[in-house]
Amino acid sequence: MKFFIDSADVGEIRELSQTGLIDGVTTNPTLIAKSGRKFTDAIAEICDLVDGPVSAEVTATDAEGMIAEGRALAKIAENIAVKVPLTWAGLRACRTLTDEETMVNVTLCFSANQALLAAKAGATFVSPFIGRLDDIGEDGMQLIRDIRKIYDNYMGLDTEILAASIRTPVHVTEAAKAGADVGTLPPGVFRQLVEHALTDKGLAAFLADWEKTGQTVPRK
Ligand code: G3P
Repeated sequence: MKFFIDSADVGEIRELSQTGLIDGVTTNPTLIAKSGRKFTDAIAEICDLVDGPVSAEVTATDAEGMIAEGRALAKIAENIAVKVPLTWAGLRACRTLTDEETMVNVTLCFSANQALLAAKAGATFVSPFIGRLDDIGEDGMQLIRDIRKIYDNYMGLDTEILAASIRTPVHVTEAAKAGADVGTLPPGVFRQLVEHALTDKGLAAFLADWEKTGQTVPRK
C-alpha cells in the first residue's frame, strides 16, 4: 500500500518525507485554506519535497474551466495530479486531462457506481471518502471493498483506489486489508502507525538489560 500525506502543511510534509515512507501528497481547498499559503506556492514546494504524485484540486465547476485550471496546475511540476470532483463536468475534464497524459485524481467519491465512472474516464486515482461515509452512518470501508471487487472484475480498469478521509489507524489497516492501492493519511494518523505500548516497553527492557552488560555494539 502506498502512503500519501493528506496535508498542505509544507513543514509537516518535509518532516514526514524524511521517513522515506511517503509516496505522495493530497491537498484540497480546505487544507490549502488552513495552511494560509498561496495555493500555487505551497503546491510547488510540496512537489519539490516529494517525488510521487501531489494532488492539487481545481475549483471551477464547469468542464472547460476545470480543464483550463488543470492544464495550468500541471505546468507547476511533473508530479502534479489534478484533482477534480466526481461530477459529469469532472469526468469530462478527467478524460481530457488523462488523454493529455496528466495524472488525475477524481475526488469526493461516495458510491461504487461513481468509482466505475471515474475508472471509465481514465482516472489515475479515485478517492472514496471513508470517514465522511462513517459520519453519516454508512460503512465507508464497504465502499473500498466494493470498488476493489468491481475493478478486479474487468481488464483495463487500472484506476488506483486512493482511500481518503482516513481518520484512524484502524481505517489504515482495514483499507489495506480491503486492497486499497493508496491510503492518504493526515500527519497525525501517519505518526500513530508506529506506536505500540509493547514496543516501547520491550525496547526499554532490552536497553536496561544491555546497560548491565557494560558492552557497546560495534559501529565499524
Ligand atoms: O483529501 C480529502 C479527504 O481526505 C478529506 O478528509 O477528514 O476532511 O473527511 P476529511
